[in-house]
Amino acid sequence: MLVEARGRWYALARVDGDVVALDNNCPHMGGPLGRGTLNGSELTCPWHGWRWDVRTGRNCWPGSDWRVPRLPVRIVGDEVQLPVL
Ligand code: FES
Repeated sequence: MLVEARGRWYALARVDGDVVALDNNCPHMGGPLGRGTLNGSELTCPWHGWRWDVRTGRNCWPGSDWRVPRLPVRIVGDEVQLPVL
C-alpha cells in the first residue's frame, strides 16, 4: 500500500507477518512502488514491471545490483511508525 508520512511517500508491505517499508520511488524511473503488485515477497512496479524483493530491497533480476531503500518499521499498537528522515 502507498502511505504518506511527513510529506514523503512509502510503499508498505506485509510479508510473512512482518511489515516492511520501502521508498515509494522505483529506482528505475521513479514509478510508484506503493501502487505495485505484491506476490509473496516480490513487489512489481506498475510502470515497467521491474520486480523488487521487499525483504531486502534488492532487484529480483539475477545479478542486478539495483536496490530500493528500505526503512526500519516499528509497530506500536495499531500504528506503523517510520523514522523521520
Ligand atoms: S519505473 Fe519502476 S520499473 Fe520502471
